[in-house]
Parts: sequence; structure tokens; C-alpha cells
Amino acid sequence: MIKIAPSILSADFGVLAEEIARVEAAGADQIHIDVMDGRFVPNISMGFPIVTAIRKRTRLPLDLHLMIVEPEKYLAEFAAAGADLLTVHVEACPHLQRTLTSIRELGARSGVPIKAGAALNPSTHPHAIEYVVDDVDLVLVMSVNPGFGGQTFIPAVYPKIRQIRTLLGGRRVDISIDGGVKVEHARPCAQHGATILVAGSAVFEAPDPGAVIEQMRAAATG
Ligand code: DX5
Ligand code: ZN
Repeated sequence: MIKIAPSILSADFGVLAEEIARVEAAGADQIHIDVMDGRFVPNISMGFPIVTAIRKRTRLPLDLHLMIVEPEKYLAEFAAAGADLLTVHVEACPHLQRTLTSIRELGARSGVPIKAGAALNPSTHPHAIEYVVDDVDLVLVMSVNPGFGGQTFIPAVYPKIRQIRTLLGGRRVDISIDGGVKVEHARPCAQHGATILVAGSAVFEAPDPGAVIEQMRAAATG
């Protein structure tokens, strides 16, 4: 089964609670929250107060995509704000295995399991995760260069998804695709081994987000 994760980067922040309710009613499986620091990526987006506010408005899992340098400094605070899944970029983590392990330990301490994700930029080789395959719950494959919503999907990710699925062997690790994902990408992504599709502009800029989520799910599973 494919999961659809609307990215709120493309939501109307003036009415964020309504936007969350809208995609929840439309069948979203989790809410993707893009945290940007103006250093790892050339953009600044949102941080702890927004995560805390969203946590109060939905029971859907919160999928935090940390596009920040030194993410290890902020993991505990994001966990306290309500993250269910914390994804760090491999390019930002010299001690990736330690960082992923510490995410899982945070969950263990609070009694609520927190999942650990590793994200790869478009030019990063799949081998970057080769020695952490037992430390991840999710591999996030960027299909645009991170920093902005509304960019164009890079089709070179298709073979990369397959390579990552092969590297993961039989492990039950999710692979999410993030960036420029539209309905037409759902089927090839799923066929190559993706289990989660992140979609920002495709969902929030549609007149009927529910229809888009339904079409993506149907295309991916059909
Ligand atoms: C890009 C973000 C994505 C983005 C997706 O840096 O990580 O999650 O918001 O938005 P779309 O689907 O519009 O590319
Ligand atoms: Zn993202």
C-alpha cells in the first residue's frame, strides 16, 4: 500500500488549521513538514511552534523533513513538539549512524516510538545509506534539489529508487519520494519500490485535493 504525505510547504499558512483539516479529510496518510534553515538549503521555512500547533490539530503522523545543518542539536525539541518521524539529510550528518540511533532512542525514552529517516539529495549516491540499513525506518529520495516547493521532478530518481530497494534487501523500510511529485509519477515510483509519495503543490494547489490523493493512490496501486 502506498502512503500519501501532503507537504504543508504549499499550504496557505494564514489558515493552516483549515488546510490540515482539508487534507486529513481528503485521505492523507501523514503530514509532511519541511524544516529549512537557510544554510543547508537556500530557504527558511518553519520550526518548533508550527510543529507544536499542527500536533494539536491532527492525529495523523507528523513526518518532519529536516533540511538543516547539525540536525542532532534539535532532535529532542522536535520530538517534544510532536514529531512521529524525523528525517535528517545524509549530507548534513558526518556521524549519520549515531544521529539515526539517537532518533530511535528519543522515542524509546518518551515511550512513543519515533521513526528515523535518512534523506538523499538528487546527486547523492545510494551507497550513502549502505552501512545504516539497519538503523533506518525510512529513506527519503529527493526528486528535486531541496529548498522550494513547485519544482520539476527529476526522472533520474527512478533507477535510484530501485538501487535503494535492492540495498535494503528484505527489510521493511519505507522509501519516500519528495519533490515535484504529480499523479503521473505515482505509478513508476511505486513500481521502482517507493512506498510513500510526498506531494506539496500537486495537493494544495488542486481545486479538489481529495481527488488528487485518490488518483495518486489508485495509480500507484493499480
Ligand atoms: C522541497 C521539499 C518538498 C516540497 C514538495 O525541498 O522537501 O517536500 O515541499 O513540494 P512539491 O510537491 O511542490 O515539489
Ligand atoms: Zn520535504
